[in-house]
Amino acid sequence: EIPIIAIDGPSASGKGTVAQLVAQELGYYYLDSGALYRLLALAAVGRGVPFDDEEGLARLAEGLTIRFEGGEVWLDGEQVGDAIRTEECGNGASRIAAYPRVRAALLDLQRAFLQAPGLVADGRDMGSVVFPGAMLKIFLTASAEVRADRRYKQLMGKGMHANIKQILHDIRQRDERDSARSVAPLQKCADASLLDTSSMTIVEAVDEVLAWFQQVCVR
Ligand code: CDP
Repeated sequence: EIPIIAIDGPSASGKGTVAQLVAQELGYYYLDSGALYRLLALAAVGRGVPFDDEEGLARLAEGLTIRFEGGEVWLDGEQVGDAIRTEECGNGASRIAAYPRVRAALLDLQRAFLQAPGLVADGRDMGSVVFPGAMLKIFLTASAEVRADRRYKQLMGKGMHANIKQILHDIRQRDERDSARSVAPLQKCADASLLDTSSMTIVEAVDEVLAWFQQVCVR
Protein backbone atom coordinates (compact mmCIF):
# COMPACT_ATOMS: atom_id res chain seq x y z
CA GLU A 1 0.00 0.00 0.00
CA ILE A 2 1.37 3.41 -1.00
CA PRO A 3 1.67 5.79 2.00
CA ILE A 4 -0.37 9.00 1.93
CA ILE A 5 -0.10 12.03 4.19
CA ALA A 6 -3.25 14.16 4.02
CA ILE A 7 -2.87 17.78 5.16
CA ASP A 8 -6.10 19.76 5.34
CA GLY A 9 -6.82 23.20 6.72
CA PRO A 10 -8.12 26.71 6.11
CA SER A 11 -6.98 29.37 3.68
CA ALA A 12 -3.38 30.58 3.96
CA SER A 13 -2.60 28.34 6.93
CA GLY A 14 0.76 27.44 5.39
CA LYS A 15 -0.30 23.89 4.61
CA GLY A 16 0.92 24.17 1.01
CA THR A 17 4.44 25.16 2.04
CA VAL A 18 4.56 22.54 4.80
CA ALA A 19 3.17 19.81 2.52
CA GLN A 20 5.71 20.56 -0.21
CA LEU A 21 8.64 20.48 2.21
CA VAL A 22 7.44 17.23 3.79
CA ALA A 23 7.09 15.69 0.30
CA GLN A 24 10.57 16.88 -0.62
CA GLU A 25 12.04 15.47 2.57
CA LEU A 26 10.47 12.05 2.02
CA GLY A 27 10.93 12.00 -1.78
CA TYR A 28 7.15 11.72 -2.21
CA TYR A 29 4.84 13.23 -4.81
CA TYR A 30 2.86 16.34 -3.90
CA LEU A 31 -0.75 17.21 -4.74
CA ASP A 32 -1.88 20.83 -4.42
CA SER A 33 -5.61 20.17 -4.74
CA GLY A 34 -6.45 23.85 -4.24
CA ALA A 35 -4.55 24.56 -7.45
CA LEU A 36 -7.04 22.36 -9.31
CA TYR A 37 -9.98 24.41 -8.02
CA ARG A 38 -8.08 27.60 -8.84
CA LEU A 39 -7.30 26.31 -12.33
CA LEU A 40 -10.94 25.50 -12.90
CA ALA A 41 -11.91 29.03 -11.82
CA LEU A 42 -9.33 30.46 -14.23
CA ALA A 43 -10.51 28.23 -17.08
CA ALA A 44 -14.14 29.19 -16.38
CA VAL A 45 -13.32 32.89 -16.69
CA GLY A 46 -11.37 32.19 -19.89
CA ARG A 47 -14.21 30.19 -21.46
CA GLY A 48 -16.98 32.46 -20.24
CA VAL A 49 -18.59 29.82 -17.98
CA PRO A 50 -20.35 31.71 -15.15
CA PHE A 51 -19.49 30.77 -11.55
CA ASP A 52 -23.14 29.85 -10.86
CA ASP A 53 -23.38 27.33 -13.73
CA GLU A 54 -22.75 24.05 -11.84
CA GLU A 55 -23.43 21.86 -14.88
CA GLY A 56 -21.16 23.91 -17.16
CA LEU A 57 -18.38 23.98 -14.55
CA ALA A 58 -18.57 20.21 -14.01
CA ARG A 59 -18.31 19.62 -17.77
CA LEU A 60 -15.39 21.99 -17.96
CA ALA A 61 -13.69 20.13 -15.07
CA GLU A 62 -14.08 16.78 -16.82
CA GLY A 63 -12.38 18.12 -19.94
CA LEU A 64 -9.45 19.90 -18.30
CA THR A 65 -5.97 18.92 -19.45
CA ILE A 66 -3.69 19.74 -16.54
CA ARG A 67 0.00 19.02 -16.13
CA PHE A 68 2.17 19.76 -13.08
CA GLU A 69 5.90 19.80 -13.63
CA GLY A 70 8.72 21.17 -11.53
CA GLY A 71 6.40 23.40 -9.52
CA GLU A 72 4.82 24.78 -12.68
CA VAL A 73 1.30 24.25 -13.99
CA TRP A 74 0.10 23.85 -17.57
CA LEU A 75 -3.55 24.24 -18.54
CA ASP A 76 -4.45 22.95 -22.00
CA GLY A 77 -0.82 23.21 -23.06
CA GLU A 78 -0.29 26.73 -21.76
CA GLN A 79 1.91 27.63 -18.79
CA VAL A 80 -0.30 29.22 -16.12
CA GLY A 81 2.26 30.87 -13.84
CA ASP A 82 0.99 33.03 -10.99
CA ALA A 83 -2.36 33.69 -12.69
CA ILE A 84 -4.00 31.16 -10.35
CA ARG A 85 -2.45 32.73 -7.23
CA THR A 86 -4.46 35.96 -7.28
CA GLU A 87 -7.09 36.54 -4.58
CA GLU A 88 -9.75 36.79 -7.32
CA CYS A 89 -8.88 33.29 -8.44
CA GLY A 90 -8.86 32.02 -4.85
CA ASN A 91 -12.28 33.48 -4.21
CA GLY A 92 -13.59 32.05 -7.49
CA ALA A 93 -12.16 28.66 -6.53
CA SER A 94 -13.92 28.82 -3.18
CA ARG A 95 -17.25 29.61 -4.90
CA ILE A 96 -17.11 26.81 -7.45
CA ALA A 97 -15.76 24.33 -4.86
CA ALA A 98 -19.16 24.47 -3.14
CA TYR A 99 -20.78 22.49 -5.99
CA PRO A 100 -21.02 18.71 -5.44
CA ARG A 101 -20.78 17.96 -9.17
CA VAL A 102 -17.66 20.05 -9.54
CA ARG A 103 -16.03 18.23 -6.62
CA ALA A 104 -17.03 14.85 -8.06
CA ALA A 105 -15.61 15.78 -11.47
CA LEU A 106 -12.20 16.50 -9.88
CA LEU A 107 -11.99 13.26 -7.86
CA ASP A 108 -10.27 11.00 -10.41
CA LEU A 109 -7.87 13.74 -11.37
CA GLN A 110 -6.77 14.07 -7.73
CA ARG A 111 -6.47 10.33 -7.09
CA ALA A 112 -4.29 9.96 -10.20
CA PHE A 113 -1.53 11.74 -8.27
CA LEU A 114 -1.10 8.72 -6.00
CA GLN A 115 2.12 7.00 -7.06
CA ALA A 116 4.93 5.13 -5.33
CA PRO A 117 6.87 5.86 -3.22
CA GLY A 118 4.17 8.04 -1.63
CA LEU A 119 2.03 11.17 -1.73
CA VAL A 120 1.56 14.28 0.37
CA ALA A 121 -1.80 15.85 -0.50
CA ASP A 122 -2.97 19.26 0.68
CA GLY A 123 -6.48 20.71 0.60
CA ARG A 124 -9.77 20.73 2.49
CA ASP A 125 -11.03 17.17 2.08
CA MET A 126 -7.91 15.09 1.47
CA GLY A 127 -8.39 13.04 4.67
CA SER A 128 -12.17 12.95 4.62
CA VAL A 129 -13.12 12.35 0.96
CA VAL A 130 -10.29 12.01 -1.53
CA PHE A 131 -7.92 9.79 0.48
CA PRO A 132 -9.91 8.53 3.50
CA GLY A 133 -7.41 5.68 3.95
CA ALA A 134 -4.44 8.03 4.36
CA MET A 135 -1.79 6.79 6.76
CA LEU A 136 -1.47 10.17 8.47
CA LYS A 137 -4.09 12.94 8.56
CA ILE A 138 -3.31 16.43 9.75
CA PHE A 139 -5.51 19.46 10.21
CA LEU A 140 -3.13 22.39 9.91
CA THR A 141 -4.42 25.76 11.04
CA ALA A 142 -3.47 29.16 12.48
CA SER A 143 -5.36 32.23 13.69
CA ALA A 144 -7.02 34.37 10.99
CA GLU A 145 -4.60 37.24 11.75
CA VAL A 146 -1.51 35.09 11.35
CA ARG A 147 -2.90 33.63 8.14
CA ALA A 148 -3.67 37.09 6.73
CA ASP A 149 -0.10 38.11 7.49
CA ARG A 150 1.29 35.01 5.76
CA ARG A 151 -0.88 35.54 2.68
CA TYR A 152 0.15 39.22 2.56
CA LYS A 153 3.84 38.31 2.59
CA GLN A 154 3.30 35.57 0.02
CA LEU A 155 1.61 37.98 -2.41
CA MET A 156 4.17 40.75 -1.82
CA GLY A 157 6.95 38.23 -2.39
CA LYS A 158 5.47 37.52 -5.81
CA GLY A 159 5.34 41.24 -6.51
CA MET A 160 1.54 41.13 -6.49
CA HIS A 161 -0.77 43.82 -5.18
CA ALA A 162 -1.92 43.19 -1.58
CA ASN A 163 -3.89 44.96 1.15
CA ILE A 164 -3.70 43.41 4.60
CA LYS A 165 -7.16 44.55 5.75
CA GLN A 166 -8.78 43.28 2.57
CA ILE A 167 -6.94 39.96 2.91
CA LEU A 168 -8.11 39.46 6.50
CA HIS A 169 -11.66 40.23 5.40
CA ASP A 170 -11.38 37.77 2.49
CA ILE A 171 -9.92 35.06 4.74
CA ARG A 172 -12.80 35.34 7.21
CA GLN A 173 -15.31 35.27 4.36
CA ARG A 174 -13.57 32.27 2.79
CA ASP A 175 -13.50 30.41 6.13
CA GLU A 176 -17.19 30.97 6.48
CA ARG A 177 -18.04 29.81 2.95
CA ASP A 178 -15.73 26.77 3.15
CA SER A 179 -17.20 25.74 6.52
CA ALA A 180 -20.85 26.33 5.69
CA ARG A 181 -21.06 24.41 2.42
CA SER A 182 -22.97 21.14 2.35
CA VAL A 183 -20.28 19.04 0.63
CA ALA A 184 -16.85 18.53 2.09
CA PRO A 185 -17.10 21.41 4.55
CA LEU A 186 -13.86 22.59 6.06
CA GLN A 187 -13.50 20.76 9.36
CA LYS A 188 -11.04 18.55 11.14
CA CYS A 189 -11.97 14.89 10.71
CA ALA A 190 -12.06 12.74 13.83
CA ASP A 191 -8.90 10.80 12.98
CA ALA A 192 -6.82 13.86 12.05
CA SER A 193 -4.14 15.36 14.31
CA LEU A 194 -4.49 19.08 14.98
CA LEU A 195 -1.47 21.25 14.22
CA ASP A 196 -1.91 24.91 15.16
CA THR A 197 1.00 26.79 13.62
CA SER A 198 0.09 30.29 14.90
CA SER A 199 3.33 30.52 16.84
CA MET A 200 5.40 27.98 14.91
CA THR A 201 7.90 28.50 12.13
CA ILE A 202 7.56 26.53 8.88
CA VAL A 203 10.56 24.40 9.84
CA GLU A 204 9.01 23.54 13.22
CA ALA A 205 5.74 22.57 11.54
CA VAL A 206 7.54 20.39 9.00
CA ASP A 207 9.53 18.66 11.76
CA GLU A 208 6.35 17.97 13.72
CA VAL A 209 4.66 16.37 10.69
CA LEU A 210 7.74 14.25 9.99
CA ALA A 211 7.88 13.13 13.63
CA TRP A 212 4.21 12.09 13.56
CA PHE A 213 4.85 10.25 10.32
CA GLN A 214 7.75 8.30 11.84
CA GLN A 215 5.41 7.31 14.69
CA VAL A 216 2.70 5.90 12.41
CA CYS A 217 5.33 4.17 10.28
CA VAL A 218 6.73 2.12 13.13
CA ARG A 219 3.28 1.16 14.40
O1 CDP B 1 -4.92 28.57 0.52
P1 CDP B 1 -6.15 29.07 -0.14
O2 CDP B 1 -7.40 28.73 0.55
O3 CDP B 1 -6.09 30.49 -0.53
O4 CDP B 1 -6.27 28.38 -1.50
P2 CDP B 1 -6.30 26.91 -1.99
O5 CDP B 1 -5.89 25.92 -0.98
O6 CDP B 1 -5.53 27.00 -3.23
O7 CDP B 1 -7.86 26.65 -2.30
C1 CDP B 1 -8.68 27.57 -2.96
C2 CDP B 1 -10.13 27.22 -2.66
O8 CDP B 1 -10.44 25.95 -3.24
C3 CDP B 1 -10.48 27.07 -1.19
O9 CDP B 1 -10.99 28.26 -0.63
C4 CDP B 1 -11.53 25.97 -1.14
O10 CDP B 1 -12.82 26.49 -1.17
C5 CDP B 1 -11.30 25.19 -2.40
N1 CDP B 1 -10.73 23.87 -2.15
C6 CDP B 1 -11.57 22.83 -1.82
O11 CDP B 1 -12.77 23.03 -1.71
N2 CDP B 1 -11.10 21.57 -1.65
C7 CDP B 1 -9.79 21.31 -1.74
N3 CDP B 1 -9.35 20.07 -1.57
C8 CDP B 1 -8.88 22.36 -2.04
C9 CDP B 1 -9.39 23.63 -2.22
